[in-house]
This record gives sequence, C-alpha cells and structure tokens, in this order.
Amino acid sequence: MDTSPILPATEENIRKAASIIREGGIVAFPTETVYGLGADALNERAVARIFEAKERPLFDPLIVHIASREQLKILTDHISDIHRKLMDAFWPGPLTIVFRKSPAVPYITTGGLDTVAVRMPSHPVALRLIEASGRPIAAPSANRFGYPSPTRAEHVLKQLGNRVDLILDAGKTPHGIESTIIYVEGETIYLLRAGATPPEDIERVTGLKVVRKARRMSPGQLPYHYSPATPVILIESLREVEEILRKFERIALITFRREEIPEKWKDKVIYDYLSEEGDLREAASNLFDRMHRYDEMSLQAIVFQKVPDRGLGIAINERLLKASMRYASDRR
Ligand code: TXA
Ligand code: MG
Repeated sequence: MDTSPILPATEENIRKAASIIREGGIVAFPTETVYGLGADALNERAVARIFEAKERPLFDPLIVHIASREQLKILTDHISDIHRKLMDAFWPGPLTIVFRKSPAVPYITTGGLDTVAVRMPSHPVALRLIEASGRPIAAPSANRFGYPSPTRAEHVLKQLGNRVDLILDAGKTPHGIESTIIYVEGETIYLLRAGATPPEDIERVTGLKVVRKARRMSPGQLPYHYSPATPVILIESLREVEEILRKFERIALITFRREEIPEKWKDKVIYDYLSEEGDLREAASNLFDRMHRYDEMSLQAIVFQKVPDRGLGIAINERLLKASMRYASDRR
C-alpha cells in the first residue's frame, strides 16, 4: 500500500485510531510533549509491535498513558499521599510517575521491571484517543530508537512510515521535549529523567527535595538516546566557533537566543537559534525540530550552544549533552 498513513486528528479519525488500538494495532498520536507510538498497554502482542517498529531494545520500558484516575487502579495498587499530591498538581500534564506495577501489566510493557511508568497527558487528542479506545495506552516517543523524538507528524512518517497503522496529525507538539519522570520512595523523590515539568515546581508542590542523578534506575537513559546522525558539538560561547571552523567547512550553528554572527562565517555557517528572545519554554519546543531539520542537510556538524542551566534549561542541556556524546566518543 502506498497511501500515506497520516490523517488529521478529527473526531472521526481518532475513533478510527481507537479501534485500531482495540484490535491490537499501533498508532502514532500527538501529546503535549512529543508524538507517541501507542498500543494497548495490556496486550502483549500489540506492545511487541512497538518495540519492533522502533527497533527498541526490550529492556527499555514504555510509559503507559491514561485518561482517568480509574484507569490508574488497573495498573497499580500502590498509590501514596505524595503520589496523590503530585497527580492533583500536575495531571493531566508532562509528569510521569513510576509506580509498583499490578499483575495486570505485562512485563513486556515494563521492560521486565516490577514498576510501571504512568502519565496522564493533557493534549486533547491524546486524552480523546485513550478514552475512545477504553484502554491504557503504552507509548514511547514515535521515533526510531536512538533518534530525536518527533515533534511533528512528518517526523514520525519519515522515521516509521509504513511500520505504523496510522499517524494522527495535530501539528507541532506544544512542549517539544518529553515528560519529566520521577520515582517516589518514602519521602524522597528521585528524578529519573529531566523533562517538561521543572524539578523546582515539584519541590514547591510537595515540599520535598527532588534528588537528581538517579539515572541508572531508568533503563532507557542510554547515553546516545537523542543523537541525530550528523555529529553534534556543544559550545558554551560563540568564541569557540572559530576553532571549530578550522576543522569544518559546512556547519549549522544554533544559539540559545538570536545573536549577531560575524560576516566572515557566513559561507561556512547556516545560522539559527532556539528562541529569538531567549525564552526557555520556546527553546525547548524548538529543540528537536532543529535537530531534525539540520540533520537532513548533510552538514559536517551541528553546533549547539548550551542554554542556562535552570528550570527547563536543565532538560534541554541534558538532551544536548546526550546528542553530542556519540561524536565525543567516536573521537576517543
Ligand atoms: O513525554 C513523554 O514522556 C513521551 C510521550 C509520548 O508521552 N514518551 C516518552 O517515552 O518519552 P520514551 O519511551 O521515549 O521514554 C520512556 C522512558 C524509558 O526510556 C525509561 O527511561 C523510562 O521512561 N521508564 C519507563 N518505564 C520505567 C520504569 N518502570 N522505571 C524507570 N523508568 C522507566
Ligand atoms: Mg524516546
């Protein structure tokens, strides 16, 4: 079949997607963070198709998306007061909470773990799809394993194309980076992945400290996770560009805010920025879009300037660092 699997996210098409999910198919859909590749979280064969389509290792667990607190009760029997406080404050929205799993959740969904990661997305299309299918939906980001997450339906089409049954298109996703993932143990909140919900907000709501650097607890956090194929180089300041231009003829340079670029760079450098005025939220929403766009241009390198290391900037820098690691380790 050579018809494109992309359809606009109308009520009719969402229903179509929902029945594909019920029948064990896989559907890409927008969330407020990035596009997800969804299947019935409780159907092992359907979930297996996600791993196959993404070429994702089976030890890398999926996030289960729900539309109501009722659905959470199917997935876990262990909900604490701290969990409730977090859900009241941040759901629906880009916060994923790792719970002890119930027997109903198959191990293929959790990568063999006894825990399950759950979030209630705020994107109306995602919520409607979950509701209409009547199933909790397991969904990783809808990219091939090791590539940047898709923020547009076209990114999904390019990477997964006819491996998916349907792609629901609702344009660019609002946040543009993935959800924050946390795990609560006693009175401690571990940050497993920095993301669209800043840790400061979580601390304010709970009055508890959020402990960083628990990465080994989150199996999917491999160093190469967000790498475009083109080498990514990270810089702190524009002063470092001269040095880079001694080695490369043709690069993309992407700064945090809009900068004046020296005239003499212009035949070697394609210049862009993450946010005209240096707004972290806007920068986050453009990050993967820039990676995808400049990765397609057959350049020798994509040079990103780091953003300020606060709020959403923590999540942005973490993704930039990961994207740059493939190049850094190739050189070793
Ligand atoms: O914003 C998002 O979270 C997007 C949208 C689609 O919801 N999803 C997403 O999924 O980013 P994915 O598969 O690309 O990342 C899921 C990550 C895994 O790589 C793993 O690090 C973590 O979530 N994870 C899932 N289940 C876990 C568990 N039981 N314990 C610890 N970490 C878990
Ligand atoms: Mg992912």
